[in-house]
Amino acid sequence: MTVLSTTGTELPVAKDVPENSTTAIRWLATHSSRAWLELVMAHPEQLLIDHAHCERKAASAAIRLMFTYPTDTELSAALSPLAREELEHHELLLGLMSRRGIALRPLDAPPYGARLRTLIRSREPERLLDTLLVAGLIEARSHERMGLLARHLEDRELADLYAALLASEARHFGLYRLLAELRFPRAAVNQRLGELAQGEAAILARLHPKPRMHS
Ligand SMILES: [Fe+2]
Ligand SMILES: [Fe+2]
Repeated sequence: MTVLSTTGTELPVAKDVPENSTTAIRWLATHSSRAWLELVMAHPEQLLIDHAHCERKAASAAIRLMFTYPTDTELSAALSPLAREELEHHELLLGLMSRRGIALRPLDAPPYGARLRTLIRSREPERLLDTLLVAGLIEARSHERMGLLARHLEDRELADLYAALLASEARHFGLYRLLAELRFPRAAVNQRLGELAQGEAAILARLHPKPRMHS
């Protein structure tokens, strides 16, 4: 599916961005640790609840971008379907949790998101570039971690759920990166993506003690 922009060019939407669902996204500066995997696998109920919150937050982040740049037609055309897809993921989690009798309860968030936001520069147009790339890196990290869960969880239903989500999270990374490349020179995008990936890796270097998707 493509969307026509006001200038007549075809715009990419989330489902159009090719990204092999199982191939590692090379932009991540580190692999997740064995300690993280063991922590979340030992607490599958908390992982599910946190993951449900993450999917809702991912939709919210996309919608927030649409509000911050309300006249950017290209951005809205790309991010509106992405936000819908994240809400579908949220609903998938709610359904699975409901079948297992798990209630959606509040969980305190790890510092990952707040620390990532401190890397976003406050002046435009750098703010837009950083916001797109940080959103992309969160998608890339989710993709990497869901891949680990799909391979290592013995609970088949959960492993299958994570395997099914991989492709869209990889596409979402590709879409955010493409949105950046449509607005900034590719060399500048790549350089900043590398810098932010280093920052993201540094944030995860110390394992948060609570089992979260982004501990
Ligand atoms: Fe998602
Ligand atoms: Fe996503």
